[in-house]
Amino acid sequence: STLRFLLSPRSAYISGQVVELTTDAPGEVADWAAPLTGRTALVTGSARGIGAAVASVLARDGARVICLDVPQAEEELTRTADRLGAAALPLNITAPDAADLIAAAVPDGLDILVHNAGITRDRRLANMPADRWASVIDVNLDSVLRTTDALIKSGTLRRGGRIVATASIAGIAGNNGQTNYAASKAGIIGLVRSLAPRAAAEHGITVNAVAPGFIETKMTAAVPLFIREAGRRMNSLSQGGLPVDVAETTAWFAQPASGAVR
Ligand SMILES: NC(=O)c1ccc[n+]([C@@H]2O[C@H](COP(=O)([O-])OP(=O)(O)OC[C@H]3O[C@@H](n4cnc5c(N)ncnc54)[C@H](O)[C@@H]3O)[C@@H](O)[C@H]2O)c1
Repeated sequence: STLRFLLSPRSAYISGQVVELTTDAPGEVADWAAPLTGRTALVTGSARGIGAAVASVLARDGARVICLDVPQAEEELTRTADRLGAAALPLNITAPDAADLIAAAVPDGLDILVHNAGITRDRRLANMPADRWASVIDVNLDSVLRTTDALIKSGTLRRGGRIVATASIAGIAGNNGQTNYAASKAGIIGLVRSLAPRAAAEHGITVNAVAPGFIETKMTAAVPLFIREAGRRMNSLSQGGLPVDVAETTAWFAQPASGAVR
């Protein structure tokens, strides 16, 4: 799955990455045209943007998809889900009972869990109100930890499952005015690094993260013009990426044949 992905146009926006493969649990794919056939996937924050693209690519690859987004975005969520033949689950991922409600929505279990929901509340650290800090950490990091833990413990996420979280280049390099966001995304990277070996050993589940640079979505459309233009040029292609670039990478991690990628 890794060579197929890296040698295909699907990885065009990826550069300078080291991919580590283990020697165990490589997994198999019966039909490369639809490698996710028979698998159930849940994508958080998938009414629009990167999440909608992830849901679309997973559906294209044969998965049964559940799109989750906040109840306020229900109309857009339903439109996206209908377009993909997916199910819609309006739910705030920070709700204390979020994992229970997800488990109830997939009584037969889940194979792929994509933690994509995320928010920014930018402000220089010196002027950062506590609630802007807390809300970003809660959505981007705490909810990922809570739901992952509960869905593994309850057995909802089946053996051979795949967890993919959306980090950010801000979590690696930091970003002016985004200390809260960068901390949350650095937290995702730490969480993945610490959870991956245990989840693989105890549950046969892989845990990975994608750390996109500048991707053209509503989130980045809100960035001031000159910072936005600079952001677009900070990569080897000197242009913004598209949601599909993140989606294809996520789909590669999600494949049954990607069991050795972590
Ligand atoms: N756009 C970029 O350049 C970029 C770069 C790196 C990482 N990311 C990350 O990618 C992910 C998607 O970003 P995007 O650019 O598509 O943003 P977006 O704002 O277009 O979409 C985010 C989606 O998440 C949903 N969401 C927010 N809070 C939620 C909650 N509590 N419960 C459920 N759903 C919730 C929103 O309603 C929205 O539909 C985020 O985690 C973001 O941090 C984006």
